[in-house]
Amino acid sequence: MVELFEAEIRLIINPEVRKLVWRCLENAPTYFWDVPSSNTGKYHPKDEFIKGGLVLHTKRAVNVANHLCECLSIRNIDRDCVLAATIMHDLCKNGYLNNAGHTVDGHGYLWTELARSIYTKNEISEKTRFITISRLILMHMGQYDLPYVSDWSDELATCVQLADYISSREDIIVDVSK
Ligand SMILES: [Fe+2]
Repeated sequence: MVELFEAEIRLIINPEVRKLVWRCLENAPTYFWDVPSSNTGKYHPKDEFIKGGLVLHTKRAVNVANHLCECLSIRNIDRDCVLAATIMHDLCKNGYLNNAGHTVDGHGYLWTELARSIYTKNEISEKTRFITISRLILMHMGQYDLPYVSDWSDELATCVQLADYISSREDIIVDVSK
């Protein structure tokens, strides 16, 4: 399943960041690969209200994040962090394991719990900027999350938030089929 994100992972330059993303995807709750992006179909484009819709949403968000990095001249390890955080931002969207029912508030935090064990187990280097990636994932929902964590002066966090928001709009089409 991780192969579905091969193209997105390839955008990341730092091999340690790539490894972290790969391992986290391997350990993602199984529902991540199957559920629609919105369980009610209300908050995301209608074409994501399908099996695999959350994967499609994630691919779209990464596409937008990559464009925003280009536009804002976010480069090198900073760009890697934005891309890694965007790939992983909804990995625990519906909770830890096999809770395919509904979106969980604070699911960014759940990712940090999951990733911390992977990070330790696989002896992934500190150079992954693990703390930065965690912060970006924690903040990705901004005003739509509980607790509300946002900081518009944080350029990288803003980039991830906007990528998630823009790619979730029904009237903005992000084509990732090419
Ligand atoms: Fe999202």
